[in-house]
Amino acid sequence: MSSAVSPAASEVLRQAARRRTFAVISHPDAGKSTITEALALHARAIGEAGAVHGKAGRRGVVSDWMAMERQRGISITSAALQFAYRDVVVNLLDTPGHADFSEDTYRVLTAVDCAVMLLDAAKGLEPQTLKLFQVCRQRRIPVITFINKWDRPGREPLALLDEIEKGTGLRATPVTWPVGIAGEFHALVDRRTDGTTAFRRAPGGATTATEEHLTATQAAARYGEDWRRAVEELELLALTGADHDQQQFLAATTTPVMFGAAVANIGVRQLLDILVDQAPAPQARPDTDGGQREIAAPFSGFVFKIQANMDPAHRDQIAFVRVCSGHFTRGMTLTHATTGRPFATKYAQQMFGQSRETIDDAYPGDVIGLVNATALGIGDTLYEEQAVRFPPLPAFAPEHFAVLRARDASKFKRFRRGVEQLDAEGVVQVLRSDRRGDQSPVLAAVGPMQFEVATQRLQTEFAVPTALEPLPYEIARRTDRDGEERLRTAAGVEVLTRARDGALLALFPNPWRMRAIANQHPDVTLEPLLADS
Ligand code: G4P
Repeated sequence: MSSAVSPAASEVLRQAARRRTFAVISHPDAGKSTITEALALHARAIGEAGAVHGKAGRRGVVSDWMAMERQRGISITSAALQFAYRDVVVNLLDTPGHADFSEDTYRVLTAVDCAVMLLDAAKGLEPQTLKLFQVCRQRRIPVITFINKWDRPGREPLALLDEIEKGTGLRATPVTWPVGIAGEFHALVDRRTDGTTAFRRAPGGATTATEEHLTATQAAARYGEDWRRAVEELELLALTGADHDQQQFLAATTTPVMFGAAVANIGVRQLLDILVDQAPAPQARPDTDGGQREIAAPFSGFVFKIQANMDPAHRDQIAFVRVCSGHFTRGMTLTHATTGRPFATKYAQQMFGQSRETIDDAYPGDVIGLVNATALGIGDTLYEEQAVRFPPLPAFAPEHFAVLRARDASKFKRFRRGVEQLDAEGVVQVLRSDRRGDQSPVLAAVGPMQFEVATQRLQTEFAVPTALEPLPYEIARRTDRDGEERLRTAAGVEVLTRARDGALLALFPNPWRMRAIANQHPDVTLEPLLADS
């Protein structure tokens, strides 16, 4: 075989090497919207597509996807912000802020190469962050930790490191270290260069903070006791070997830790530098045949997110595709791996928040939005030339269950089509059993608001009014045919089949019932599901 790489393939390799694709994981209120805006401020948004959505009235651009979203003032839409920083193209994949849509966030994490774990300095590692971190760990995604709100009173930095290590199992390797405690913060020491940068706050994060570089002597004279303590802590870090090691970071066993204040734009440039210098570029992606799709192979990508009705005036649906290999050019005809049918890409867009624009080119790591791609389901693969199929996206542990019925039996056909569509998009998980029949599937969700989205969409898009009857279950475990048979007569458990992947799920009303049944039936398989709490 010739080892010569074609000019087209070498351009793909070059472009992929300068891509960084990541998402921010955090507990609500830790500052995700703020840091997104601050990152974009430092960088040059490509194609002016930098309309970041934030809370109503604050940052101007609020997605108006559904009336529900507006009423609640939360953002459900999810897409990618692309910007250039130094010589790199950064793709920041947005994740819904509300925990009820964490299933969407989990799926976004299948499309990134790295995650930034954002913590509030006063709160440390919060439950939602930890849950999202577990998904990163399962995927072995390298995680960079950013401790935010250092301009406000918070915890001791060493105590925070301790909590991170205990909670995540990762070794914390600080890249920057604060001079001055949370709330009385003066400067950051860069442990890689030993340089000290003092910041003058920029109010409201509207502009980048002014930076001043100090020598150790200047810092000692200026900060006295605070400097002495920082030096002591830095010595401690050096003695315990808490140093960045690129191999261990990429193997997801350590996490570089940074301190800052997104609202004042402090530490944000340092975060971008770490992303560019240390975060991984896109790599070959494993396929279902046990092989992998090389970056320079012909185009391939998979759908990680489907968003319906982003534009109420058009009632459309967008499938977001993460590019895994090759060069995407708008208008190219791809193959949809699930059906084997050709798929035209005339309407490819790049979007974030409300703004959309037509995209002409994309490379590995980039995200493209395919408009009106109703044939595509969540996790589906698209490819050019050489066939490939990526593994289906994992389904996550649902904690809410309800029976869905059409209020009007004559609309059953539409009801069924609607339910199938919502399942394909991953809006909810659909569970079925012979006992309940097709007329009354069970909807399963990670957060109850997913149900509201499902029933609203059945009403508005399929004109089927439905009724939901909550079921008293809160835990699902994966079982098998044998388990289904044995649990058939047990009280307080029901086994259903998940439509999407045929998995058999045993549903229990509470952990005690589950344990009791597991004790009575020690041979029955009851496995936890992904991101189970
Ligand atoms: P989220 O997307 O993670 O939910 O958080 P968001 O950025 O909306 O930030 C939550 C709150 O925390 C906001 O205050 C925001 O201004 C504040 N915040 C974010 N980063 C920092 C920081 O570095 N330092 C400090 N002191 N505050 C920060 P809010 O009162 O909810 O909104 P606003 O009225 O201030 O905009």
